[in-house]
Amino acid sequence: KRGRVIFSGIQPTGIPHLGNYLGALSNWVKLQRNADPEDELFFSIVGWHALTLPQDPQELSASRMNMLATLLAIGIDPKRSVVFHQDDNQCHTELAWILSCVTPIGKLRRMTTWKSRLADSRNAGSDSEVDESLLNAGLFTYPILQAADIMAYRATHIPVGEDQTQHLELSRELANIFNRTFAARKRFFPIPTQVNTPSRRILSLRDPTSKMSKSSPDVQSRILLTDSTSKIKSKIQASVTDSILGVTYDPVNRPGTSNLLTILAACTDESPEEVASRYEGKSHRELKADTADAVEELLKGPREDFERIRNEKGYLTEIAKQGADRARERSSATLKEVRTMVGL
Ligand code: ADP
Ligand code: NA
Repeated sequence: KRGRVIFSGIQPTGIPHLGNYLGALSNWVKLQRNADPEDELFFSIVGWHALTLPQDPQELSASRMNMLATLLAIGIDPKRSVVFHQDDNQCHTELAWILSCVTPIGKLRRMTTWKSRLADSRNAGSDSEVDESLLNAGLFTYPILQAADIMAYRATHIPVGEDQTQHLELSRELANIFNRTFAARKRFFPIPTQVNTPSRRILSLRDPTSKMSKSSPDVQSRILLTDSTSKIKSKIQASVTDSILGVTYDPVNRPGTSNLLTILAACTDESPEEVASRYEGKSHRELKADTADAVEELLKGPREDFERIRNEKGYLTEIAKQGADRARERSSATLKEVRTMVGL
């Protein structure tokens, strides 16, 4: 039986926050735990994608290693999964170039992400007019690099959030275009499917109308994986809720209260409604105290492991090297065939 080939990536930009963990990274660990023995898993730290927006080189370099330490700390097992730095494997950029030569510009123009990321990076609303003179070619074409990330491993299953659906659609089209144009075996590149992970959106603790994000200048708005017990407590205690008595799950009218319920529910593997029913006659104070305890319980292990692993430079270098070797071994076989098919 042939297993699934699962691929997902995360950018090395800063210490992940609770939203990244509950919305993305914890799903990777669950997938790894529930995978069949014949499934292959690839988790990539995508440094080339980070360059599509301005980065401080020193910070990026530190984040690159910290993200590897984070993945190991949350339970990604390098014996089971291939964990590697995208930028250690040239196959991604090589395949991206070949794919870019069969990608219609019109398809890239229709992508909404570069518009919102450009707006985000300038702190403008994502529906405001985009100034194309600020758009670099990398930010415009990075969905092609994403397609290459997937196709280099001939991945079949891609766990990503709904915000990535449009990009995955492009990957499918590029796989189809390549197969049609160059491949004698019509399914040389599998058509990747999106693995729907629980779509939890964690909101800012200070402004619960927007999502928890690392780009917010207010550090009180997010909980980092490295936050101490007392920081977790103080941030949750100070979080913005509402002045309505009691606790109910009502994301539209009570976004702050509902966000705490979402967080607590994620920690206890329940639905927010189930948690809400337990808090019916209770106060915000109790909800906040219990949420802080649950988050502390959730993050304590990963935080301690992260603090230990981040200082083991030799170990991290060795894991990165092993991951890169395994990734390269798989993708270079694909690229060899691709080169032959295109005539190079
Ligand atoms: P940020 O918005 O903090 O810069 P990224 O855009 O780098 O985060 O997203 C990394 C991953 O984390 C993506 O899969 C994204 O869907 C997920 N993610 C980011 N913020 C949240 C959030 N507030 N709630 C749930 N998932 C999130
Ligand atoms: Na972002």
